[in-house]
Amino acid sequence: MTERIFLSSPHMSDEGYEQQYVKEAFDTNWIAPLGTNVDRFENELAAKVGSKAAAALSSGTSAIHLALKAAGIEKDDIVFCSTLTFSATANPIIYQNAIPVFIDSDYETWNMSPKALEKAFEKYPQVKAVLLVHLYGLSADMDQIVALCIKYNVALIEDAAESLGTYYKGQHTGTFGDYGIFSFNGNKIITTSGGGMLVSNNEERISKARFWATQSRDQARHYQHSELGYNYRMSNVVAGIGRGQLKVLDNRVKKKNYIYNFYKNNLSDLEGIEFMPNNEWDKPNYWLSAMTLTGKIRPIDVMDALENENIESRPVWKPMHIQPYFEKYDFVGTDVSEKLFENGVCLPSDTKIMDEQLERIVKIIRGLW
Ligand SMILES: Cc1ncc(COP(=O)(O)O)c(C=O)c1O
Repeated sequence: MTERIFLSSPHMSDEGYEQQYVKEAFDTNWIAPLGTNVDRFENELAAKVGSKAAAALSSGTSAIHLALKAAGIEKDDIVFCSTLTFSATANPIIYQNAIPVFIDSDYETWNMSPKALEKAFEKYPQVKAVLLVHLYGLSADMDQIVALCIKYNVALIEDAAESLGTYYKGQHTGTFGDYGIFSFNGNKIITTSGGGMLVSNNEERISKARFWATQSRDQARHYQHSELGYNYRMSNVVAGIGRGQLKVLDNRVKKKNYIYNFYKNNLSDLEGIEFMPNNEWDKPNYWLSAMTLTGKIRPIDVMDALENENIESRPVWKPMHIQPYFEKYDFVGTDVSEKLFENGVCLPSDTKIMDEQLERIVKIIRGLW
């Protein structure tokens, strides 16, 4: 069997930047959840995306949790949440004992539909926050969504876990709302093996998030706690990997873009295939190349054919409002996200992939038609 081709696997820099920063942490014995790599990774990421402040955390999920907390979300508050996403977007709403209301996607962006969002505002005027995702590195339609959040005076949190390197009209995703989060999980465009970042222009709220993330230790000689705390900080070793990875982010985006265009140019003529949207205002990072199939060849046929050749692919996320755990919560929209789930496939988008491998994948898929 030939070597497995992955959907999206860790890809360290050829230059060894990550090891250099990790070595520094060892040499200075800063193997702790604080240190210069953490401080610098926070500053470097904030500068890259154009945000005033950032807190490095143990995961993207913990960053979403602290974003909700920083936005003042508490028990029984309603939070509008993109339905077409990974469960990690929605779970922290439950950690806060708040109530998610799931919002449909539209075909133009695959992300939160501004029309469905407006309907939701009319139905739930007491809503406290909007939590949207930039799926697969495609940006949501921010002008319309930001305008609605301003009109209804609610906090906006962007789950940009999949969209580091994605720009909407020249502005980095994750910086439009009150809070943005990024993930450095193993399959993301850059990885630290696991980790996350919370960003905001509100420096006071970011220091508060750091405080909660370090068990809410009050300033006292003894251990004193006036608030509930969490162990959510990123370690100085992990942050070293992040600093190295950040240096190659632009190259990774270029390669993902190449992969997307390769598939698009070589598969678009097949009946029933449509690639994820490419809006003129969106400069995606193309984290995963995804397509929908509406003809007689189904996503499962493509995924099985690839798996038989030891090639990883996966379905588009199953929407939250039809997940057994979340189906009791309300949903506003039509059937767009369900259709994207039924018809969608994510193709191998590993930045280490070679042209021969892309050609093989295209050949296998074309062979089904
Ligand atoms: C959309 C989305 N949100 C949140 C997360 C959670 O990030 P993490 O795995 O770093 O907790 C992920 C990925 O894992 C994701 O894809």
